[in-house]
Amino acid sequence: MLRFEITPSSHDIIARAGETIRNGGLVAFPTETVYGLGADAENPTAVSKIYIAKGRPSDNPLINHANSLDSFAHLVDLSNEHIEKLAAKFWPGPLTLVLPGFSAKAIAIRIPSHPITRAIINAANCIIAAPSANISGRPSPTTASHVFDDFRDSPYIDLLLDGGSTEAGLESTVVSLLGDVPTLLRPGAVTPEAIEAVIGKLGYAPETTTTPISPGMKYRHYMPRTPLILLIGDAQAVSDKLPEYANAAILRTHNRSLSEVAKNLFNDLRHFDTLNKSVIVAEGVPEKGLGLAIMNRLKKAATTTVYLQD
Ligand code: TXA
Ligand code: MG
Repeated sequence: MLRFEITPSSHDIIARAGETIRNGGLVAFPTETVYGLGADAENPTAVSKIYIAKGRPSDNPLINHANSLDSFAHLVDLSNEHIEKLAAKFWPGPLTLVLPGFSAKAIAIRIPSHPITRAIINAANCIIAAPSANISGRPSPTTASHVFDDFRDSPYIDLLLDGGSTEAGLESTVVSLLGDVPTLLRPGAVTPEAIEAVIGKLGYAPETTTTPISPGMKYRHYMPRTPLILLIGDAQAVSDKLPEYANAAILRTHNRSLSEVAKNLFNDLRHFDTLNKSVIVAEGVPEKGLGLAIMNRLKKAATTTVYLQD
């Protein structure tokens, strides 16, 4: 894997990344959410390398990235009444829509805003399928070093483009427009409240069913190697509990903004693994706004969740 530090005006390297994807290779690159591992979405051999490289279950589909809605017209049915309003408000940006596809029942699409991602899509001149660029089950990568740590020995990844830390630190919000009511499949960088302000009440897909609407919902994710205890309760109850964990790394969330917690969350989880602690203890946050996405990630990362009485 070759690694380059780049900016949106690193034209030669961006051209090389586009060519690599066009030729069936894999490129890891920054987006405004997390680093993605991209391949030509319409090249099945290239896409299968993503699954092998990540160790990703084959029933978990990938998000398709392009720079305009028109680019998706041959892939998905774009007639849903909500698409235009959502696109006007949130695209380009960290929202993913699941729509009826022509080659599959459901296909996920996203128009990213990061100038490097957009330049790579332009250079590749194809739709790019890209999951988060981590080994399946690990915390998502928000820096090029996280990608390198997971894939340093992988023969499958051709290029790693280092564009610095990602802005949101959490993945895109995934909304399904398949049924009568738009449904939140994965909370993410766009809050459900912001989406509801545009298209009205969302349905909330139940978690942890054996046949979830979104395959990603049934797998554990984001796990550091150190066991993680998630404390849920009011701020006082949580801080009263903390002294019980003597040799713990503490993920503090109280008295910090949710966007700052989100931006640093995956980096913190990976960093704590380097401290040789026996346990990580995370302070939960209220499940509103960005807090819903933060808690979704922490619950999937946790080995134990402790509910504290007020
Ligand atoms: O921010 C993001 O979305 C990042 C960047 C790289 O764009 N990508 C990302 O991809 O997080 P991934 O593969 O780690 O997560 C994709 C999520 C999974 O929960 C998956 O199950 C869901 O989207 N998904 C993809 N295609 C779907 C489909 N056709 N129907 C339902 N859910 C789908
Ligand atoms: Mg992922």
